[in-house]
Amino acid sequence: MRMVDLIKKKRDGLPLSKDEIEFIINGYTTGDVTDYQMSALLMAIYFNDMIDEEITWMTTAMSQSGDMIDLSAINGIKVDKHSTGGVGDTTTLVLAPLVASVGAKVAKMSGRGLGHTGGTIDKLEAIPGFKVELENDEFIKFVNESNVAVTGQSGDLAPADKKIYALRDVTATVDSIPLIASSIMSKKIASGADAIVLDVTTGDGAFMKSLEDAERLAHTMVRIGHLANRQTMAIISDMSQPLGNAIGNANEIKEAIDALKGNGPEDLMQMVYTLGSQMVVLAEKADTLEEARQLLEDSVASGKAADKFKEMIRNQGGDDSVVDFPEKLPQANYNIEVPAKKSGIISKIVADQIGVAAMLLGAGRRTKEESIDYAVGLILNKKVGETVFEGESLVTIQSNRENVEDVLKVIYDNIEIGEVGEEPVLIHKIITE
Ligand code: URA
Ligand code: CA
Repeated sequence: MRMVDLIKKKRDGLPLSKDEIEFIINGYTTGDVTDYQMSALLMAIYFNDMIDEEITWMTTAMSQSGDMIDLSAINGIKVDKHSTGGVGDTTTLVLAPLVASVGAKVAKMSGRGLGHTGGTIDKLEAIPGFKVELENDEFIKFVNESNVAVTGQSGDLAPADKKIYALRDVTATVDSIPLIASSIMSKKIASGADAIVLDVTTGDGAFMKSLEDAERLAHTMVRIGHLANRQTMAIISDMSQPLGNAIGNANEIKEAIDALKGNGPEDLMQMVYTLGSQMVVLAEKADTLEEARQLLEDSVASGKAADKFKEMIRNQGGDDSVVDFPEKLPQANYNIEVPAKKSGIISKIVADQIGVAAMLLGAGRRTKEESIDYAVGLILNKKVGETVFEGESLVTIQSNRENVEDVLKVIYDNIEIGEVGEEPVLIHKIITE
């Protein structure tokens, strides 16, 4: 087999076979296929797309390119949740302990943030002492005993994806549905969960700007999951504005604690109960979504959910007293209010740009090497559809520097106040096949 012939085949719009796709992925992982050949192929895929079979073969080959995590030592159905990316997305922090508190097993591998999106692992590190790099046997022990553990990606998970993703980043081939679907699902499959709940985000803050593309991506990933024998479903959610009110690290831990006690922002609670109910049903801890939701609401009301978060923090070496005393989390030196320049209705809050504003403060990293200031971030005091009066605070900037002119400019440029504005629909669709 010659790579040049396979590039030509894809260039001419023909589907590749299983053997051909394995040849490409294995060859690229070992270095036998060069970057320039792979770049040409990725561009051909970008323009000519792939059929479901090709995407599935590609996903399988990438998932098998490195370690396959074996979670069989954990009793019961392991559920995982993944989001295609958002700003201020506190959902995983709430869901992991909440779903575990009603008996589902959550063995969660999470990532760090880059650019305008935050990562769950960074947020957890805002808790004093919290350890995010767990040994495999510790990870399994905590999930068996406490139903939950969250760890950074360990070992050599889907190295083919790592290499291809880096190449896509510099060849303008990131926003391709078959490439995104195979990238995400290869890691989910390699990390060993039995059931996968996907949150496919759409809007300014997301990869998929249109609902139509988000739907295609969701269907594609769900079908790949099923073909790989994993129970898989997806919701399509709005990420035109950030989720909840807090965008940062320590402030999102505080927001998660509020949510676990039933006092979270409305949109975050809606996401949590929708995704959480699906996870509980997939884990066979309830027969219907209604029953699952009731279990989750009861757990929040009784304090069980917050207690589970304490247990998870304790297991992983953190100070669990932050759950009752969130002021023990890192705090910024300055709280700076951003007053509205006129009265009206909030018509737009551009999610990715608000993520950039938080990154400028130090809540996120521009490059993989940068470090994070856990204490800083933004609190949105108004969301789309709310009325605001001139002089009222739109946002609270939590900063460790006094001069925040650059951040103010980004905020003012990306929050629009108009005559009309409606609260956006948060959950567009539920995709099960
Ligand atoms: N997240 C991934 O892991 N891969 C993509 O291609 C896009 C988002
Ligand atoms: Ca949030």
